[in-house]
Amino acid sequence: MTDLTKSAAMGEGGVGLLSGAESHAAALCSACAKGSLLTVEHLSIADVAGILATTTRLERMAAVERARLLTGRTIALLFYESSTRTRTSFELAAKSLGATTTLVSDKSSSIEKGESLKDTGLTLRALGAEAIVLRHPSSGAASLLARVTGLPVLNAGDGMHQHPSQALLDLRTILLRLGRDASTVDAHALDGVTVAIVGDILHSRVARSNAMLLPRLGARVVLCGPVEMLPEDALGLGAGIAIERDFDRALAQADVAMMLRIQKERLAGFDLDLAEYVARYQLSAQRLAAIAPHAAVLHPGPIIRGLEIAGEVADGAQSAIEQQVAQGLAVRRALLARALGVQA
Ligand code: NCD
Repeated sequence: MTDLTKSAAMGEGGVGLLSGAESHAAALCSACAKGSLLTVEHLSIADVAGILATTTRLERMAAVERARLLTGRTIALLFYESSTRTRTSFELAAKSLGATTTLVSDKSSSIEKGESLKDTGLTLRALGAEAIVLRHPSSGAASLLARVTGLPVLNAGDGMHQHPSQALLDLRTILLRLGRDASTVDAHALDGVTVAIVGDILHSRVARSNAMLLPRLGARVVLCGPVEMLPEDALGLGAGIAIERDFDRALAQADVAMMLRIQKERLAGFDLDLAEYVARYQLSAQRLAAIAPHAAVLHPGPIIRGLEIAGEVADGAQSAIEQQVAQGLAVRRALLARALGVQA
């Protein structure tokens, strides 16, 4: 069994870059509460347009009015993996809509004592949670939780599988950065746009979700990385995807360069020559200035300065990294309102 086909998940199907997980997830969703967001594949272009429109409406709404939308509603944040941006932005988004939130993490709950995901979910439901935001190291965990609780579940990252809210916030950041309409999309919203996604694609749920969403809106996605982190079968993620191993050639085509962290925690058994990686794949200031002086630079974080991205680039004028974080708050408000069936 290769890394690509290995099942990491709780009997929920394979979870490589290519696997039965997609069709499996789609089948599972018929049993999921409306308002769940488990994978970008469950979103039609009209759904994406609706989420962006709600995001814009909420952004323009007065804070006091916004804070009434989810008053009296309860949202649980269930995190089995570390997170800064995703957790905090979901929490602040929920609070800005007036919801009550509770955070349960694997480090400070009965999960540490061995309680299962199912029993943890049922406990949160019994305590009044009406939606659960879940991050979990196993692919398929969000589908499982949605099925066993019947609650809307927002997948905040499941193993190497999906991170749909990240793809949506990246989409909004790209639209804004390129001066396009960010309040709606259609199948041509990203026509003529090339997005290079660079680095540890194999372990990245962010890369997967973006590579599956952006081409449906007209973008070309160029995946770039060494073969150990970017197997050839990534091409099968969908139409509109190409592989370019040479970073300079990938960058030369890019309107957007999305840099990824090397996920050391998922690199079991793989001996990486860091100096070689930096030489071949780091987005340095010189490389950016020489090859893509107009490209927007994205990174989902956490950023490892001096490894996949130079500090000067992260702090530089082409960086959209802080904008991505701000868009995370904006888009997640819309996703939470949608999860709880509130028209905003
Ligand atoms: C990513 C994640 O957790 O998938 N970060 C994020 O959510 N913003 C990427 C990573 O961990 O490198």
